[in-house]
Amino acid sequence: MVIRLEQPSDYREVENLTREAFWNVYRPGCTEHYVLNQYRSNPDFIPELDLVMEEDGCIMGHVMFSRAELVLDDGTRCPSWTFGPISIHPDYKRKGYGLKLLNYALEKARELGVGFLCMEGNIAFYRHAGFDLASKLGIHYHAEPRDAVVPYFLAQELIPGWLKSKGITEATYGPPKGYFVADENPEAFEAYEATFPAKVKLRLPGQLV
Ligand SMILES: CC(C)(COP(=O)(O)OP(=O)(O)OC[C@H]1O[C@@H](n2cnc3c(N)ncnc32)[C@H](O)[C@@H]1OP(=O)(O)O)[C@@H](O)C(=O)NCCC(=O)NCCS
Repeated sequence: MVIRLEQPSDYREVENLTREAFWNVYRPGCTEHYVLNQYRSNPDFIPELDLVMEEDGCIMGHVMFSRAELVLDDGTRCPSWTFGPISIHPDYKRKGYGLKLLNYALEKARELGVGFLCMEGNIAFYRHAGFDLASKLGIHYHAEPRDAVVPYFLAQELIPGWLKSKGITEATYGPPKGYFVADENPEAFEAYEATFPAKVKLRLPGQLV
């Protein structure tokens, strides 16, 4: 198993992997492959943390990171970070690869000075990599009531004491704009999606939408 930086020659294969991993998981079909496609030219994208995982000679895992912001109660904006999509090909799921890729990426992120991460995800997976509810660190989710414990909104200080070092006791997070490209530009997304082999969209139990 190899983890390495994504190369331009990998782009299409990695977008296809992302589509395979997310297809019908959170909604009928998925949009995460388009998010990735568009994000690589977004200034928030962090190329040094754009990682692929290879096994049996093919790319079966990927993760990307993004710059983000925390908004303090007085309106001050503090640079921060988030990550995702993270994808493991369906043939390789639940074999420990996702956790290996994530832990490797978190270590690289820490080395690059990423002090704090928050994101939306399933704590059943992310707790294995050190994530906990963001509310425990005083970080609120923009789309939920301020005093809500949001079970899918997770955070971790990669550099212990990072929040305190920035004077942050409470702040609010909203995902960067780059994650909403498919909703903002549905026609461009549909044109992009049409370049992939057809797949059946299914409404399944457990989806968010
Ligand atoms: C989520 C994902 C990256 C996890 O990678 P993975 O290789 O399948 O996960 P791992 O085998 O490393 O899982 C480690 C542990 O995390 C937990 N876990 C992983 N996926 C889980 C899930 N879907 N539901 C609940 N717990 C999960 C389990 O405790 C697992 O250990 P176990 O299999 O011994 O019970 C991968 O399944 C995937 O690509 N899913 C589709 C896309 C997606 O949802 N991405 C994340 C968006 S937030």
